[in-house]
Amino acid sequence: MPSSSTPSELVIDPRQTGFVRLDLGRLFGNDHPVILEIGSGKGRFLITSATERPEVNFLGIEKSLHYHRVIHDRVRKRRLQNIMLVNHDAFLVMRDMLSDAVISELHVYFPDPWPRKREKKRRIIRPEALVEMRRVLVDSGSGIYVTDHREYFEAAAPVIADYFASEPRVPGPDEPPRTNYEAKYRAEGREIFEVRFWKVASSE
Ligand SMILES: C[S@@+](CC[C@H](N)C(=O)[O-])C[C@H]1O[C@@H](n2cnc3c(N)ncnc32)[C@H](O)[C@@H]1O
Repeated sequence: MPSSSTPSELVIDPRQTGFVRLDLGRLFGNDHPVILEIGSGKGRFLITSATERPEVNFLGIEKSLHYHRVIHDRVRKRRLQNIMLVNHDAFLVMRDMLSDAVISELHVYFPDPWPRKREKKRRIIRPEALVEMRRVLVDSGSGIYVTDHREYFEAAAPVIADYFASEPRVPGPDEPPRTNYEAKYRAEGREIFEVRFWKVASSE
């Protein structure tokens, strides 16, 4: 595949560039580690983390144009230099635009549960997407998946364990909410389920 062309300020737009492999070092202008968030919503995790960790780059993939615009405005106003955004389906972006071993951490907070049987193939935690997650992570890379949806969690945890070393956990009450949905659901007293996962040699 050809490499991507002109660096953009904040947005990588595959509708303009085509689905080309990204040179993240060139796009961010440095070789800092890159954390990928899938389904960034209004961008709370991206903005908080990028502000706290200027030595790390953040790539946020959000398929909703509405939310993409919300994040874009918020990031631009804060003049954060270590965030880049893609408004597209995260599976396709990972598969077609990310090279091997370019992501140090992968975060997925409250992905749509797609509860109906015919919708389940759209879930981001599915084998073909996990293949891409494992491929794009660096060897020591890790990930976090969080949901309030028990059935999705119970289905997703063993699939994640097929591709990674993993550990289910429940976030403690003293841990600050990472995203808007986490804040909202915790305030409502909903159960929150989390899986932490790591790429290890045996998961190759
Ligand atoms: C329930 S919201 C959670 C938003 C945010 N992560 C939070 O916790 O506040 C799920 C988000 O994931 C996005 N999303 C769902 N599937 C996606 C996909 N395949 N690629 C990119 N974004 C996706 C949706 O558009 C939506 O903004």
